[in-house]
Amino acid sequence: MPTSSRKGTHSSPAAVTTVGLRKSYGDKTVLDGIDLRIPAGSVFALLGPNGAGKTTVVKILSTLITADGGQAQVAGHDVGASPDKVRAAIGVTGQFSAVDGLITGEENMLLMADLHHLPKAEGRRVTAELLERFDLTDAAKKPAHTYSGGMKRRLDIAMTLVGNPRIIFLDEPTTGLDPRSRHTMWGIIRELVSDGVTVFLTTQYLEEADELADRIAVLSNGRIAAEGTADELKRQIPGGHIRLRFSDPAVYRAAADTLHETTRDDDALALRIPSDGGQRELRSLLDWLDSAGIEADELTVHTPDLNDVFFALTGSTVPNQANEPNQPHEPSRPNNFKETAR
Ligand SMILES: Nc1ncnc2c1ncn2[C@@H]1O[C@H](COP(=O)(O)OP(=O)(O)OP(=O)(O)O)[C@@H](O)[C@H]1O
Ligand SMILES: [Mg+2]
Repeated sequence: MPTSSRKGTHSSPAAVTTVGLRKSYGDKTVLDGIDLRIPAGSVFALLGPNGAGKTTVVKILSTLITADGGQAQVAGHDVGASPDKVRAAIGVTGQFSAVDGLITGEENMLLMADLHHLPKAEGRRVTAELLERFDLTDAAKKPAHTYSGGMKRRLDIAMTLVGNPRIIFLDEPTTGLDPRSRHTMWGIIRELVSDGVTVFLTTQYLEEADELADRIAVLSNGRIAAEGTADELKRQIPGGHIRLRFSDPAVYRAAADTLHETTRDDDALALRIPSDGGQRELRSLLDWLDSAGIEADELTVHTPDLNDVFFALTGSTVPNQANEPNQPHEPSRPNNFKETAR
């Protein structure tokens, strides 16, 4: 469930807008005209494969680098014309930790309080409150290099919140975290949103976008390939499929040789057949498998998910496809197994 499904509609004022944002490095175009509108109080997720330009967008919007063209407004201020006003309204947790490992968690926090020019007593109060909120009080006096990855990430976000920003940018906040730490981080993000903060996050985890975001944009080849709610994106992509899993490698190979229009997963001994998941299609597949004498150990029907959206829009490969590393994900072709069955 999105964190704030009733918030952040298009009628809300925009926390972030971009029009035709462009950025190149040398002759490499990274952003080729990015248009975004993120309503205040909502969670927005920017998805894209490695190198798509997610961090570049975050850096431009948080005034760390400048765009080559287009416009961007954050918290009502133009990032180019009024970077100081933008900085005063935002918090940024970068992809790579800003935590100084040589000093304690508490000292890292106090340093941030100084950077925000908080009076000493106020800095100590905010530090103690945030360390408590992020379950870091016990570790507060230990050097940050002794923290686990999850603790460092929590400290990173706590440091971002010192200035009480209304808009926060989280660049891959949960990369490298175990499932429990990831869920803790999701809880933290939900809490921020319930306080009215706008969250702009980038992620490699489609499940994370599905779980948290009101709206999702997929960045590919310098452009927004699709934008919408998770459900809207899923509806755009015919990514449904039937998965057949075998335990006997010989039976698997025989089935794979017979069923040409499938995606093979040789490690899992599984075949993936594009399908709309409808009863009619399923029945004809089962009939055909029977007549061909193929018996799978497991048959599962998958409706499209964000993975399908991601693979279809970014041309990325389906993970674990040992055989076909460069094949883009094929959209569903209803009844295609019938053609290969004869
Ligand atoms: N300072 C720079 N100089 C030259 N090229 C750069 C620079 N910063 C980024 N790039 C290039 O811009 C492209 C986009 O990089 P960016 O870091 O924005 O991608 P990303 O989507 O955040 O990737 P990841 O998922 O790996 O974090 C990449 O091809 C990268 O090599
Ligand atoms: Mg990045």
